[in-house]
Amino acid sequence: MTDLVTEPLTTLATAFPPDFTFGAATAAYQIEGAVTEDGRTPSIWDVFSAEPGRVHNGDTGEVACDHYHRMPSDVAMMRDLGLRAYRFSIAWPRVQPGGRGPVNARGLAFYDRLVDTLLENGIPPWATLYHWDLPVELEQAGGWPARETAYRFAEYAGLVADALGDRLSGLITMNEPWCSAFLGYGSGVHAPGRRDGTAALAASHHLLLGHGLAAESVRAAAPAVPFGITLNLYPTSPGVPPTYDGPDRAAYDDAVRRIDGISNRWFLDPVFGRGYPSDVVEDVRSTSALEFVRDGDTDIIAAPIDFLGINYYTRHVVAPGAYPGSAGVEFLSRGFPVTAMGWEVDPDGLYDVIRRVHDDYPAVPIVVTENGSAYEDVMGADGAVHDEARLAYLRDHLGAIARLIADGVDLRGYFAWSLMDNFEWAFGYDKRFGLVHVDYATQQRTPKASARWYADLLATHRNGTELPNGILGP
Ligand code: FCB
Repeated sequence: MTDLVTEPLTTLATAFPPDFTFGAATAAYQIEGAVTEDGRTPSIWDVFSAEPGRVHNGDTGEVACDHYHRMPSDVAMMRDLGLRAYRFSIAWPRVQPGGRGPVNARGLAFYDRLVDTLLENGIPPWATLYHWDLPVELEQAGGWPARETAYRFAEYAGLVADALGDRLSGLITMNEPWCSAFLGYGSGVHAPGRRDGTAALAASHHLLLGHGLAAESVRAAAPAVPFGITLNLYPTSPGVPPTYDGPDRAAYDDAVRRIDGISNRWFLDPVFGRGYPSDVVEDVRSTSALEFVRDGDTDIIAAPIDFLGINYYTRHVVAPGAYPGSAGVEFLSRGFPVTAMGWEVDPDGLYDVIRRVHDDYPAVPIVVTENGSAYEDVMGADGAVHDEARLAYLRDHLGAIARLIADGVDLRGYFAWSLMDNFEWAFGYDKRFGLVHVDYATQQRTPKASARWYADLLATHRNGTELPNGILGP
């Protein structure tokens, strides 16, 4: 065992209140497989990943982690790790094939069983309604750039809330609408692969509108379920020190303003009732006059939330430049260690981004709904994965969470991304984010050193004291 693995856990564990939610997260298309089973119809990701050149190595989610067939043993694995919550997503095309019409009972039954199995194992379920798998028929009808999709989503949200809402500890409408809108319809690196800035802005609005409309349908069906949205937020810093006063200082500050504007404030401001930030409205004017924003929309989007989900991976460091698509901005690297995604490891960024939400927006409980790292894991001759870099990432980011709690931020939970290796979107199976290793040939699951460390931390937190050999043994 390494120093990291044996480092005492008590100090970190006791920094979290007894009811803190420690979990892990996944998403439907990334793990389920079984794409044609029990009445599921295709999503935009089935179509996109089947198109040559879209996904690394031609990978698709057809089999993925085969979780659809292995759900009971996967939940048993979560129990063995001592997880205190599990965040999964619901595949819209399983529950409401084609995105309209009645519920598909066989598709819904899978999530019904998942929720019950989690509860039987003492693991509170947190569901995300939309983690990027739009039914293809809705894309053919215009996708997220079309207003109607927001109404379809709200109806689907109500169906799920009606069926599962009484047993969920959290219900998240959208996962990272920035990605759905700007990667799906702007840069085209995610499904449906469109490259149209105007469509991307319309998509961002209709995703937020769908969230706001869902507040109504969800509260009508399941008034007690904690309701929220998950945003991917990036602390954004200038590539010069705070004291820098060169002639391009103002240009640096403007680069920060622009990227913070379109990445963070474009979503946070309307969700918190401030409407779209006027400076960003100006920035995007040459692309769109936002004629799709109708009177009353921003009030709908401002529906009260019970918590804000934040996904954090890294920080943006920017300079004035010519980054394509974000006129006048360049993204810098600082030479920090990076993950296999090329993302700089920056736990202080997690502190900064949450602190900013706490300082600048109305008080709301915060839950980190994703945080994690991909590394090129190697399975040793001993059959173990000694993923020390991931373990250190996890430890240091949890340290940032502990500091936020000590500083009075109302932070209720942390979900590691991800429970297990899975289909990492355009990168396919090449990028491994799991605490648990998946051998895709055999579907064998092996908890990595990071999973064992997390399990030990959670056991220490639960028991108030460390177990001699950890909960998974020596
Ligand atoms: C987030 C996604 C999640 C996963 C991680 C690495 O943007 O929500 O599904 O791909 O990145």
